[in-house]
Amino acid sequence: MYWEKSIETMKRAKLQELQLNRLKETIGRTKKSFYYGKLFKEKKLGISAIKKLKDIEKFPFTTKDDLREHWPYGFIAVPKEELVRMHSSSGTTGRATVVFHTIKDIAVWSNLLARCMYMTGMRKRDVFQNMMSYGLFTGGLGFHYGAEKIGALIIPAGAGNSKRQIQLMRDFGTTVIHVIPSYALHLSTVFEELKINSRRDTKVKMAFLGAEPHTEKMRKKIEDIYGYKAFNSYGLSEMNGPGVAFECPEQNGMHIWEDSFLVEIINPKTLQPVADGEEGELVMTSLQREGMPLIRYRTKDLTRIIPGTCPCGRIHRRIERIKGRTDDMIILKGVNIFPMQVEKKLMEIPGVGTNFLIILDREEFNDMMTVKVEVDKKYFSGEIKQMETLRKKIVEELKNEILVTPKVDLVEPDSIPKGEGKVVRVVDNRKE
Ligand code: COA
Ligand code: AMP
Ligand code: ZN
Repeated sequence: MYWEKSIETMKRAKLQELQLNRLKETIGRTKKSFYYGKLFKEKKLGISAIKKLKDIEKFPFTTKDDLREHWPYGFIAVPKEELVRMHSSSGTTGRATVVFHTIKDIAVWSNLLARCMYMTGMRKRDVFQNMMSYGLFTGGLGFHYGAEKIGALIIPAGAGNSKRQIQLMRDFGTTVIHVIPSYALHLSTVFEELKINSRRDTKVKMAFLGAEPHTEKMRKKIEDIYGYKAFNSYGLSEMNGPGVAFECPEQNGMHIWEDSFLVEIINPKTLQPVADGEEGELVMTSLQREGMPLIRYRTKDLTRIIPGTCPCGRIHRRIERIKGRTDDMIILKGVNIFPMQVEKKLMEIPGVGTNFLIILDREEFNDMMTVKVEVDKKYFSGEIKQMETLRKKIVEELKNEILVTPKVDLVEPDSIPKGEGKVVRVVDNRKE
């Protein structure tokens, strides 16, 4: 049973007491890492700085850049042999964000996910089809372990191969799926193509939608097409992955598991806390992690705490669905991409000129990225065959780097407008 009543409905004061104890333990653990050990020494910080939860504000923020600069092991807080799992988000270059887990971390994470799924009504009798990528992405293995704790029958389908996904759903009577929202829409066109009625011919009654921003309108659209209930699932690799915040049956904001994460919402410009209920950047401190605990991690995700209590009785506060990012990270097909990755890769390819533009489109429920690439002046008058070779090389190199396949259009030198001031690198035309 994964309704942890004592934790999920405990009195706020008790929860805060638990958070304070776990925060102190976390500070004690983090200082064993190379990064925090050095930082705390310089800033004369340690457990004694924490008397109340608000004292977290004495500690500096941690950013993705800090993680990258101390890649790969600068943040681990246990001897390396205690680590049992690594995950990584976005990018394949040497500076991708990597996160490490001990066996206990995996158990705690799985438990959090089991709690999320149980909260929505998933049970042991369910057949759970996980349509997220397994491997380095956290969505595959993370949900897998959580569903296993509940005892459901798991179909570890992974991403892609849409016809097979539908076949699996029908053959084995899938009742719950985990899917990226844009892919749920795309899959509906494959159902149509196959002339299979997704409402009548499958038993799916519930979907967990995650890894990608989506609006309430998009959720409704997915629910209308399929006739199942769709729950928003939020997480990030740096805080385990999914299982950070999840919707309950009320479908009105995501409960953020405060026994595991200390939450702050800050103004991304002033870096000061915003007033209760106001929108800002979500900042989190892990409260249970051993392998790679993080203090005041700036998620760059914009949200707000929904004021008031939830009718479901859970005490853990709710965050609103993610409104956007404070950085230029793009999420396409559930994969995180930084324009800088595209730029770096392009600049390494002989024949590529000085400018490029990323265009994101959603056509007939198909998300895609087109990269317009200016060709080097010396190269441009080359033969068509030579151009095609260059184009294919760019597609291949970019796919290896960003993990999705872009469409590449080669264009004349100096044909992409440079614009005034900040260069525009991304045009996002995706609409629901
Ligand atoms: N989730 C699952 N499958 C997806 C998908 C998504 N977000 N986006 C596309 N697909 C399917 C396509 O429909 C296609 O299926 P088909 O074989 O039936 O035609 C197949 O994956 C390949 O799609 P394509 O668009 O050609 O691939 P790509 O090279 O651009 O991207 C993916 C490859 C889909 C494997 C990659 O984008 C991916 O792994 N996405 C999921 C990431 C994820 O799990 N994130 C969770 C983070 S926690
Ligand atoms: P990753 O580390 O690859 O798991 O990516 C984490 C990022 O994906 C988060 O910081 C968010 O920007 C985004 N994300 C994950 N889940 C959601 C969600 N439910 N809604 C909006 N964005 C999400
Ligand atoms: Zn609730």
